[in-house]
Amino acid sequence: MAQQDVILVTGATGNVGRQVVRQLLAEGRAVRALVRTPETAGFPDEVEVVQGDLTSPGTVGIAAEGVSAAFLLWPSLPLADAPAVVEALAKGTERIVYLSSAGVEEDKEEQGDPINQFHAGLERLIEKSGVRWTFLRSTSFASSLLEWRDQVREGVVREAFGEATRTLVHEADIAAVAVRALTGDAYSGQKLMLSGAAPISQIEQVRIIGEIVGKEVRFEEVPLDTLREQMRSEGWEDPDIDGMFAAYATMATMDQPVWNTVEEVTGRPARTFPEWVADHVQDFR
Ligand SMILES: NC(=O)c1ccc[n+]([C@@H]2O[C@H](COP(=O)([O-])OP(=O)(O)OC[C@H]3O[C@@H](n4cnc5c(N)ncnc54)[C@H](OP(=O)(O)O)[C@@H]3O)[C@@H](O)[C@H]2O)c1
Repeated sequence: MAQQDVILVTGATGNVGRQVVRQLLAEGRAVRALVRTPETAGFPDEVEVVQGDLTSPGTVGIAAEGVSAAFLLWPSLPLADAPAVVEALAKGTERIVYLSSAGVEEDKEEQGDPINQFHAGLERLIEKSGVRWTFLRSTSFASSLLEWRDQVREGVVREAFGEATRTLVHEADIAAVAVRALTGDAYSGQKLMLSGAAPISQIEQVRIIGEIVGKEVRFEEVPLDTLREQMRSEGWEDPDIDGMFAAYATMATMDQPVWNTVEEVTGRPARTFPEWVADHVQDFR
């Protein structure tokens, strides 16, 4: 592989980024990982690890020098740093694959919530930067359920909106699509909608986790007032709590969409939720 085919991965120690690194290596690609703490990054020797921070555009510029493509995520950081980061990437590379959200509404100045607001902002900056780009607009990650780890061990998961369904995506599928977009031109200028295989309610998610982990786990519905107090104590503002409740109330009455993109791009169907749990059994034990 020619030296110029190095691919930069940001968020490389995260759920999706680590998979992107792994799958690029499996294809024999050269990978440079931008990480905040190289000592704990834990990559194989063939990965070129570069210390950097997305809030420090200079470090991103250095990491991006001479790469053929960059995988970018924006982990809820202030938008103020984003223009300089995108500019730094655009100087070093000709292609950015950005991990966005299925909740971004097309051509809307004001998005429905702060998370989709920053994703829409990043998308706009990248579109204007002059590089080739692909946006991976994903529904909720199955990996967000790892926050239930301790509750699964206790045998009870406490949440509101037990009937709310989500089409949870396996991080390996997001990464597989990212790899195709990073290594060729077929998806340039495309906003790829990504979802898991099927909508599954939270009650059902808990049941499946218990079954596969081999443990009795029940779902306990938390009253909304209790949840609101808990979220306030975690620093949530009331309008954001209301937005979150409204979104979940919708998911309880309307299934999230299913898109066939994973199969169209990778040639294999999206992994199912039970497959995701099976891949993470040790995380829940
Ligand atoms: N969860 C969902 O359902 C969902 C749905 C659609 C889109 N998304 C988007 O997906 C992204 C999260 O992906 P993920 O779940 O794979 O990530 P993750 O597991 O939450 O890990 C976050 C990654 O970002 C890195 N990071 C955090 N702050 C950084 C900084 N200032 N500079 C450089 N790196 C930094 C972390 O590195 P360290 O090791 O240094 O901490 C880690 O590698 C977010 O942008 C989110 O909005 C999520």
